Amino acid sequence: MDQWNADLYKEKHAFVFEYGNSLIDWLQPQAGEAILDLGCGTGELTAQLAQKGAIVTGIDASAAMIKSASAHYPEVTFAVADATTFALPQQFDGIFSNATLHWVPEKEKAIARMYTHLKKGGRLVIEMGGKGNVQHILTALEKAMQQRGYTYEPFWYFPSPAEYITLLEKAGFKIDRVHFFDRPSKLVDPETGISDWLEMFGGHFFAGVPEKDKGAILQQVQHELAPKLMRNGDLYADYVRLRVAATKI
Ligand code: BEZ
Repeated sequence: MDQWNADLYKEKHAFVFEYGNSLIDWLQPQAGEAILDLGCGTGELTAQLAQKGAIVTGIDASAAMIKSASAHYPEVTFAVADATTFALPQQFDGIFSNATLHWVPEKEKAIARMYTHLKKGGRLVIEMGGKGNVQHILTALEKAMQQRGYTYEPFWYFPSPAEYITLLEKAGFKIDRVHFFDRPSKLVDPETGISDWLEMFGGHFFAGVPEKDKGAILQQVQHELAPKLMRNGDLYADYVRLRVAATKI
């Protein structure tokens, strides 16, 4: 089932692609280069890559996201495809991926697909949630779920720099640059921001949880975390980013 609501994503969580702008500087796409945007979501960054003159393909596992991307940026090529299985009829000069790879537990498969789709000397530039990402949110969620008798199952893959670099090197990449850093990310509505974030991204935690209990869990997490994650009246998700630039050798 396609869980994504493209409108809600753009309305309340635009920071996901807004912060991605500076990742484009890491890639330095040149006019005429073939670039793949892996996990392109609603296509904002894909369109920005295309504006630099690159010939861009955006892929995403969500049909809802690709539908939205294609409607807003008809000049760009988009396709529904999974990070672990995609097979495109060309190799690329660069692969770009923002805020996607933490959704892919089969990380070796995704890395192998990226390697195969790069030309020799091609550049990989990725950003994903790193070790400790949204830890306050997940700890509070686990507690609230357990207090009501539900099991909390960790879901996302937030690697340390050492772990992810090791995987890339094993696959044949040369690591060029790594940045591991905190990026508190402002949520649109301080009253409901954490609850909205979990509604948007954390649906899998609530499979089998009745709506009434889900509402109570979300309220508790929001209430408990507000003092911890509030600064000057704004609420911030405790994002930790892992950025890597690497080359296929
Ligand atoms: C992230 O970008 O860190 C992220 C986004 C959605 C869910 C989990 C992590």
